[in-house]
Amino acid sequence: MLELRQVSRLFGGLQALSQVDMTVPANKIVGLIGPNGAGKTTLINNISGLDHPTSGTIHMNGQPIQRAAPHQITRLGIARTYQNIRLFSEMTVLENLLISQHSQGKASALESLIFSGRYRREEQTLRENAAVLLKRFNLEHLAHLRAGTLPYGDQRRLEMARALAINPRLMLLDEPTAGMNPVETHELGTQILRLRDEGMTILVIEHDMSLIHQVCDEVYVLSFGQIIAHGTPEQIKNDTTVIEAYLGREDE
Ligand SMILES: Nc1ncnc2c1ncn2[C@@H]1O[C@H](COP(=O)(O)OP(=O)(O)OP(=O)(O)O)[C@@H](O)[C@H]1O
Ligand SMILES: [Mg+2]
Repeated sequence: MLELRQVSRLFGGLQALSQVDMTVPANKIVGLIGPNGAGKTTLINNISGLDHPTSGTIHMNGQPIQRAAPHQITRLGIARTYQNIRLFSEMTVLENLLISQHSQGKASALESLIFSGRYRREEQTLRENAAVLLKRFNLEHLAHLRAGTLPYGDQRRLEMARALAINPRLMLLDEPTAGMNPVETHELGTQILRLRDEGMTILVIEHDMSLIHQVCDEVYVLSFGQIIAHGTPEQIKNDTTVIEAYLGREDE
C-alpha cells in the first residue's frame, strides 16, 4: 500500500532520514521504533506531506506522493495523529469531530448559509459518524466538554477518533499512547487491532514495547535516520544491533 524508496531528509547538515526503504502492506500493522531523535516523526511528516524528502520516492497504491500537499495526501485516504496533540482545545469533543469531517462535505459555503436540504442531510451524516466514533472511543459522556479540559488519555483517544473521521485507508499514529497508563495503553491496542480487522492499514510509532508486541505484524527500527533492523516484534526484541542502538543512547 505504502512504499518508501531511498527516502532521505537533510536539515542543513543533519541527516534526519538516510536512504530509508520501507513497505507498509495493506491491512497490516507496522511498527516504527527507535531512540529519541532517530527520525521517526520526520518520517511520518514526509509521508503526510507536512515535510518533503530531500531525495527518494514515496508511493501510495502506486501513486507518487513525495511532493504532494497535506490536503492531497488526505484525499488519498491517509490520516495521522500528532506526537504533540493537535486539537481545537476551545471547541467541544463533538465539534472537534465534526470539523475534521467537514472537508469531506460537498455542500458549498453558500448552501450552508441558506441551509439547503443537501446541507442538512450532510450535517445529519456527519453527526451520525461522530456519534459512532464517540461510542467506539468511549468519549460519549465527554461530547460537550471542551477538548482542552480533558485528561491526557482522553485527548489522545479523541485525536485518534478525529483522524478516523475522514474515513482513511491508512493511519499514521505518532506515539498514540504517550501519557497513557498501562490499562489505557492496552485498551488502545485493542482498538488498533479492531481497525486492522476492519480493513485498515496502520503505521505506528511507539516507545511502549508492550503495545508493539500486542499489535504489530512487523517492526522497523530507525537509528540516526537509518533503518537498522526489520522483522517481527519477536525478532526485533532479540536483535543485538537494536539492543545496542538503545543502550548506546542511554549511555550518553
Ligand atoms: N524542522 C526541523 N529542522 C531541523 N531539524 C529538525 C527538524 N525536525 C526534526 N529535526 C531534527 O531531526 C532529528 C529527528 O527528529 P524527529 O523528531 O524525527 O525524531 P523522533 O525519532 O521522532 O524523536 P522522538 O522519539 O523524540 O519523538 C532530530 O535531530 C531533530 O532535532
Ligand atoms: Mg517523534
